[in-house]
Amino acid sequence: MSSLITVGAQWGDEGKGKVVDLLAEKFDIVARYQGGHNAGHTVEIGQKRFILQLIPSGVLREGKKAVIGNGAVVDPEALLKEIDGLGKNGISVEGRLFLSNRAHLIFPYHGLLEKALENSPHRQSIGTTARGIGPTYEDKAGRRGIRVGDMEDESNFRCLMKAAFQEKRMALRACGGELSLDEDRLVKDYLNLCRRLRPMVVDTAVFLNHELDAGRSVLFEGAQGTMLDVDHGTYPYVTSSSSTAGGVCTGLGVAPTRISGVIGVSKAYTTRVGGGPFPTEDKTAAGELLRGRGKEFGAVTQRSRRCGWLDLPVLRYSAMINGLDSLIVTKLDVLDELDEIPVCTSYELDGSALQELPPQADRLERVRPVYQTLPGWKQSTFGVTQFHDLPPKAREYLEFIQGQMGLEISMVSTGPEREQTIVLPGTRLEKLLPGPLAPQ
Ligand code: GDP
Ligand code: IMO
Ligand code: MG
Repeated sequence: MSSLITVGAQWGDEGKGKVVDLLAEKFDIVARYQGGHNAGHTVEIGQKRFILQLIPSGVLREGKKAVIGNGAVVDPEALLKEIDGLGKNGISVEGRLFLSNRAHLIFPYHGLLEKALENSPHRQSIGTTARGIGPTYEDKAGRRGIRVGDMEDESNFRCLMKAAFQEKRMALRACGGELSLDEDRLVKDYLNLCRRLRPMVVDTAVFLNHELDAGRSVLFEGAQGTMLDVDHGTYPYVTSSSSTAGGVCTGLGVAPTRISGVIGVSKAYTTRVGGGPFPTEDKTAAGELLRGRGKEFGAVTQRSRRCGWLDLPVLRYSAMINGLDSLIVTKLDVLDELDEIPVCTSYELDGSALQELPPQADRLERVRPVYQTLPGWKQSTFGVTQFHDLPPKAREYLEFIQGQMGLEISMVSTGPEREQTIVLPGTRLEKLLPGPLAPQ
């Protein structure tokens, strides 16, 4: 039995999609444990570019099973659109995509509420993806959510919707909005969508535990990143789910004793999309260069991503919270043209060194990053597949990160495609995989 978690070590968009697609080759099942279609995981295979939102990236590998767990939130229309989009590109999910009957449903009123709250003068705007994610998780925690399995019984579903409409009407009025939705129409639409989803609805916790019992291997795909976790991230500028490794246990019903290891994914620099503290953000031409070379525009919202330097305090925190066994560094090639590369090694606040990341967003906003500047390599690393073929200064950069973190780097990504990857030999990752990675 092998089960491995891949988790974003920063603020999302670390290149998890590419990494999961690569590792999925070795696993039988790939499972998502949280989030919704706020995620955008890009996988490039030859001339084709896939953007997975809710469906695990592993689905692109023929014959692999994919699971959307109870910890995820599901907009059925968006999910079916994603399934149809894959179908048009020759990827059929029939018989191999499983959706939890306990996952909570996103309704259009969640989006309306989110919009009203994001525009409210009394609330700090988060800069969300506007997919209704936050309000859906609010309903879940508030014990008034409606779950995928609730659509099984039509009359029960109608009752739940009636109560939801009454409540949302009041909630929207309270923040100056109006519930401009036809309840009957919405119920009918959702029941129709449900008919299409029904064949894939199961108790995914039972399914996964049986598969593990039978010796099948599972790769858990995190969405968002550690710093967007509702508990451990830069609250309140976070998403509303548990995106860290711990989320796997609650979000899928797989116990900690069944998990073999955790792999973190980090860019060779840092990006963030949306509001909130970002200590190493670079608003100068250098940050602009990262954005341009890294094509740092949101896969889902097309928003321009904020760019900055690698932040070791964030990565060390992420290693602790997730219990990382190994780190995968992506987008090394984006740094190719730089004369020098600053790396944040610690923070200072009000003139004193900080030992820990402050939990208050306003304090993190005020920290002064302490940088060590490393020389750039001024040479292309794009597509390099062997560590020894990297320019010496690029190797030094990676070794510096490894040394500062006290954590091995097991893979380095040098381009968006599967084969543009360096797999380092003799790492913990290698031991955690069910078998050796085939040459891409
Ligand atoms: P995710 O949300 O963590 O899956 O990441 P995204 O897909 O949102 O963003 C990562 C972007 O970087 C995607 O467009 C990938 O195709 C691209 N990418 C991944 N790895 C590399 C790499 O090593 N080099 C370059 N240049 N692009 C990469
Ligand atoms: P992947 O999986 C980067 C950010 C939003 C916003 C905050 C809350 O592609 O890495 P939400 O809509 O979730 O309530 O927004 O979280 N955010 C992401 N940023 N990558 C993501 O996903 C994100 N999903 C949400 O920009 O700041
Ligand atoms: Mg993304």
